[in-house]
Amino acid sequence: MSEPEMTSAEMSRVETSMATMGMADVQTAREEELVAKVLAAFADAPDPRTREVVLSLVRHLHGFLREVRPSEAEWMQGIEFLTAVGQMSDERRQEFILLSDILGASMQTITVNNPAAGDATEATVLGPFFDEGAPEIPIGGDIAGGGGGRPLWVEGTVRDTAGAPVPGARLDVWEADGDGLYDMQYDDDRLSTRGWLRADDEGRYSFWAITPLNYPVPDDGPVGVLLRATGRTAMRASHVHFLVSAPGLRTLVTHIFVNGDPGLPTDAVFGVRDSLIKDFVEQAADEPTPDGRDLGGRDWTRTRFDIVLAPEGTDG
Ligand code: BEZ
Ligand code: FE
Repeated sequence: MSEPEMTSAEMSRVETSMATMGMADVQTAREEELVAKVLAAFADAPDPRTREVVLSLVRHLHGFLREVRPSEAEWMQGIEFLTAVGQMSDERRQEFILLSDILGASMQTITVNNPAAGDATEATVLGPFFDEGAPEIPIGGDIAGGGGGRPLWVEGTVRDTAGAPVPGARLDVWEADGDGLYDMQYDDDRLSTRGWLRADDEGRYSFWAITPLNYPVPDDGPVGVLLRATGRTAMRASHVHFLVSAPGLRTLVTHIFVNGDPGLPTDAVFGVRDSLIKDFVEQAADEPTPDGRDLGGRDWTRTRFDIVLAPEGTDG
């Protein structure tokens, strides 16, 4: 039995679809040709690292454009967003770092540069509120400096990945005050809730601070607009910052987080690592303090953070 002949309507449908496929191929070839041209333009960059970075950037950027296929208006909206991020930045406010933080790019860069080494403590973001001018405090001293809040006793040790104590390790510690603000967010020159101390001969340290609270990353700029447009919170999980350094060991930038804080899973900058979540144990006012300090009838909290530093030269 011979095949029934196609109707003219069917013929015309097949022709249209062949023509469309052909056009799609032409379009793909044009897009690929452009990528190849741009890659070739950077292929002779004399510095090999610059070449590697730029070629990868071009590949990923064009991959993004070809996947998302933004309209020209959308592309302009993106450019206007980045322009606003730049315009928001000055010596006190770095909106680009904040953008990198809320995209998880800061945390990924930290992860890449702090490869796992034995039981070394995990690193997390530095954030914008570290101040090299913080005061030195003795072991057992208090960083609160009028910052309000519920007293917090922090104690622990610093050792290396072989288990040896690190006598004299320097610990810089800082946190937001009882109102969820860092001293440098006020218009006056106050210095509070920050300080540095050295571990003793057996690598032990302790200090008084305040029990940390949740607080938002600065969200009055374009990054705040992006967070709201994507249904995300600006809040950080409650934390205390640490920067720990000692000769011959990898400098550690990290935080401790509060076990049970409902903000842990949605930390705005993806800074939480499970190993950094600590028990912050609530103590009633009549509970004796570890150093005999009189807290004037206030309830307080205590936590422990044993720190392990990786050997120097184990960066990514
Ligand atoms: C902070 O922990 O203070 C912080 C970190 C990243 C962005 C904004 C604030
Ligand atoms: Fe912080």
